Amino acid sequence: MPPRPLPAEPGFEFNPLSPEYDRDPYPVLALLRDHAPVFPVPGVDALFLSRHEDVLAVLADEERFSADRGLWEHWTPPPAEHANHPIVRMQRANLLSYDGAEHTRLRKLASAALTRRAVRHLDALMHALADELIHAFIARGHADFVAEFAALFPVAIISRLMGIAPSSDREREFKALADSVVVAFNPMCSEADKLRSIQSMTIHMENVRLLMEEKRAHPGNDLLTDMVQAEDEGTRFSSDEILGTVLTLLVAGSETTANSLSFGLIELLRHPDQLARFRDDPAVRTNASLEIVRYQHPGRFLIRYARAATEIRGVPVRKGQIVFCSVPSAQRDPRAIADPDRFDIGREPHDLSAFGVGRHFCIGAQLARLELEIALGHVVERLAGLEIEGGFEAVPYRSNPAVRGPAALPIRFRPAQPSKVA
Ligand code: HEM
Repeated sequence: MPPRPLPAEPGFEFNPLSPEYDRDPYPVLALLRDHAPVFPVPGVDALFLSRHEDVLAVLADEERFSADRGLWEHWTPPPAEHANHPIVRMQRANLLSYDGAEHTRLRKLASAALTRRAVRHLDALMHALADELIHAFIARGHADFVAEFAALFPVAIISRLMGIAPSSDREREFKALADSVVVAFNPMCSEADKLRSIQSMTIHMENVRLLMEEKRAHPGNDLLTDMVQAEDEGTRFSSDEILGTVLTLLVAGSETTANSLSFGLIELLRHPDQLARFRDDPAVRTNASLEIVRYQHPGRFLIRYARAATEIRGVPVRKGQIVFCSVPSAQRDPRAIADPDRFDIGREPHDLSAFGVGRHFCIGAQLARLELEIALGHVVERLAGLEIEGGFEAVPYRSNPAVRGPAALPIRFRPAQPSKVA
């Protein structure tokens, strides 16, 4: 193959939404880090940051950069007739786009339910869920790991967090809500599909409202009960904010974790020595979960808007301009991380920046790590002779603008001998 043109040369192509990028973004990210760390993305009025130092600096710098879409230089408010639509209202009232005191207030409650101590209570549930999902396909000797495991596991955990009973109608509605959210906010989906999803989201959100009423009448030991009670105590949370938080947890916690489960399995299979270590030494799994997220990050980039005209590495930034912060690239920057292209589940983590930095640091980081640790632990202990049907090159990738990951993962295996079962 002829060498790829450099960023300043004619013929250099950069499209972080292309199928080539979906499959392997790392070669082009390495070029950007070395030759154009603050890269003006052609056709988009935005700058793309790829170095660890720059990405972390912008995410941490609330004075100069914000996650509030309302600050975008090309932002136009929704037309009056749409402004009151429940989905538009909720898109504004959510953690990811709130700033300052509003953000602190909303985040406090949800984060209390997701600390390491709190999520440890979900241990037993995660073990049981992993068993149940594997049980459904183990006798068959083959499965689509994405559809039959990775896509189901995180949503089921979030619904338990909300106090939704397993295998209930409420759980099925919640899963349907998660599925429609994914389509409704995906610009790659057709307008007709998006419209259908928004309609079904509206219905399912009404069901979440009903669930909030149920929690008010019959409080439980769960996050939704905590939120409605806080709302009742001092009207600290509006219904829109609670719905927005539920939806944000679904959006931020489902596909990211699902993709990391699939990437985790792919990388363990691609590195048999690491697979053996992961299977035989459970103590390494906590670190391994972070290495999986670092090595194949399930996101694309985080978006920030400049609050005022400024500069990054001498490149001017306009007020309201978009700055894309490539967390995946930061995780492979050799300026910050030793030998970053080596997948090593025993490595001492450099930092937690795969889960963000500063105010918007991932509220579900502990939960996601525990999910990876427990779920993948079960997979490698229960399934022996694991391989990907058609090989690594045949794995199809999803075209989703927010996250990156396999669309399907056909695997073959045989049930492991009981000695391998924990
Ligand atoms: C491997 C899985 C995951 C990865 C890689 C990941 C990554 C991230 C990153 C990078 C951010 C920062 C966003 C920003 O700065 O704009 C973030 C925020 C967030 N994540 Fe995660 N996440 C994962 C799983 C989860 C899970 C399981 C949940 C909850 C159930 C969750 C809930 C959230 C929420 C609510 C925010 C917004 C926090 C805020 O704005 O204050 N994430 N995540």
